[in-house]
Amino acid sequence: MISVYIHIPFCDTICSYCDFCKVLYNQAWVDEYLEQLSLEINKYYKNEIVKTLYIGGGTPSSLSVDQLNKLFDILSIFNKSEDIEITFECNIENITKEKLNALKINKVNRLSIGVQTFNEKFLSFLNRNHTKNEIKEKINLAKEIGFKNISIDLMYAFKDQTLEDLKEDINLFIDLDINHISTYSLIIEPNTKLYLNNIKNIDEDLDDDMYQAIVNTLTNNNFIKYETSNFAKEGFESKHNQVYWNNEEYYGFGAGASGYIDSVRYENTRSVIKYIKGTDFRNEIKLDQAEKMRYEMILGLRKTKGVSKELFKIKYGIDLLDYYDLKQLIEEGKLIDVDGYVKIDEKYHYVANEILIKFV
Ligand SMILES: C[S@@+](CC[C@H](N)C(=O)[O-])C[C@H]1O[C@@H](n2cnc3c(N)ncnc32)[C@H](O)[C@@H]1O
Ligand code: SF4
Repeated sequence: MISVYIHIPFCDTICSYCDFCKVLYNQAWVDEYLEQLSLEINKYYKNEIVKTLYIGGGTPSSLSVDQLNKLFDILSIFNKSEDIEITFECNIENITKEKLNALKINKVNRLSIGVQTFNEKFLSFLNRNHTKNEIKEKINLAKEIGFKNISIDLMYAFKDQTLEDLKEDINLFIDLDINHISTYSLIIEPNTKLYLNNIKNIDEDLDDDMYQAIVNTLTNNNFIKYETSNFAKEGFESKHNQVYWNNEEYYGFGAGASGYIDSVRYENTRSVIKYIKGTDFRNEIKLDQAEKMRYEMILGLRKTKGVSKELFKIKYGIDLLDYYDLKQLIEEGKLIDVDGYVKIDEKYHYVANEILIKFV
């Protein structure tokens, strides 16, 4: 079984922080893009059974109903498992009843919605185009249409944001009564409006306090932290994201998409124009055994459960603790070796990257 990621790079507006592969929505470009997407899928897909399909962006919900139907027509080539998870990313401002119905008819069973914040001052800072009231409205609409598995993206650590502002956002999320949230501390990426406006990161201690507030509030409200920044009610963990963290193989189709197939990690061109023209397509790197193990650790340690020592041995034919000298990290209490897993102590999740550097 395999997983598939589809990148739709079109957005109605461009956010001040975003360094993803995206362009402003343009009807003619979308039509041409979908044609190229179909060619790419037909060229590489080998008829494996697909267990998770993730349509992300950009903003997939910026497509018109006709374009959405065209997209699902292209995706009908996939040989889908009976219990396939199909996730579709939406932005609040372009969710409509007609589009949600089209998603439902096309068997989408998970929505990932970009909310980012409920606070209108920070929505404007992020250049997001929706209001606080619309968030509840659109999520209720999705529920009415029958979506039960809904996630939101929430960002924090904005300039001038207080701990109280963040707590208000988390409480408003809890009031939505949905089952999953992905949280992101703002990164000021080069080539973004925030960077060009010389906006700086907030104080590190406040950032850590914010992370702890997120963890404490959500876990006190029956959310399980199954990955450093992802929280779900039991049974609502994202199957697709776990494929990444378990270092399993997946196809990535579309501009800027990356994939991992037959031991090759590849990344498609981030230029939508080059993608549409079908030129200068992908960069590929064939991984050797050592690199695969490195990925296994860097991705796997993001999971609260950590990396399974048994699975590591089955996959790579060597004991994890013989291959990596983790004595010092274990003695310092940063890594824990327990119940057949090596994992990062929850106290150190907020500095996970500093620990992961050990494997780079
Ligand atoms: C693939 S992106 C975009 C999905 C969708 N278009 C949207 O904007 O909601 C997924 C998420 O990454 C997060 N993100 C993007 N850029 C970020 C940045 N510079 N710092 C922190 N989080 C970021 C946002 O929460 C965003 O929803
Ligand atoms: S954050 Fe999402 S909506 Fe905003 S520009 Fe990036 S991909 Fe588009």
